Amino acid sequence: MLQSLTSLYMSSPECHIYFGRQDKPYLIDADKTQINRVFTNLLQNAIQAIPEGQEGHVAISMKEEGPHWVVVEVIDNGAGISPEAQEKIFVPNFTTKSSGTGLGLAMSKNIVEQAGGEIWFRTSPGMGTTFFVRLPLVADQSEASYS
Ligand SMILES: Nc1ncnc2c1ncn2[C@@H]1O[C@H](COP(=O)(O)OP(=O)(O)OP(=O)(O)O)[C@@H](O)[C@H]1O
Ligand SMILES: [Mg+2]
Repeated sequence: MLQSLTSLYMSSPECHIYFGRQDKPYLIDADKTQINRVFTNLLQNAIQAIPEGQEGHVAISMKEEGPHWVVVEVIDNGAGISPEAQEKIFVPNFTTKSSGTGLGLAMSKNIVEQAGGEIWFRTSPGMGTTFFVRLPLVADQSEASYS
């Protein structure tokens, strides 16, 4: 699913998108359309964070955390988030973009929490930002697939 999202952005020669080691699919109990929205917004934010003229690198990684959780990381080498903005990014309508709604992260937080998960970030102004999404795994993973 994440692969199909990134193909949307492959047309940009200025931005390279990488997948980390992903040995298997994970089954989570969440609405597919909603989860799609979360990662579409995180990827879009990552790409939009790359300053004009800078080569962008965006990486996505998935890791199991114990038997019950999967953590997805969306890592960019963009502008980072200023300390003032850090406190507001999940607040509805907060945006630093001329054409942004500022609803992306507020919505993402709702969706992830609705699915029993958590979303947080680590940022270093001038160096980049990583968003983390932790989601609960379904106990029986035998039906997990890439679709
Ligand atoms: N990866 C990132 N790097 C730097 N700043 C970010 C990143 N992700 C989010 N932000 C900051 O958080 C703000 C809020 O993000 P959010 O996705 O909620 O809204 P938006 O991207 O501005 O608008 P929309 O999602 O409607 O396009 C952004 O305007 C930006 O300032
Ligand atoms: Mg956004």
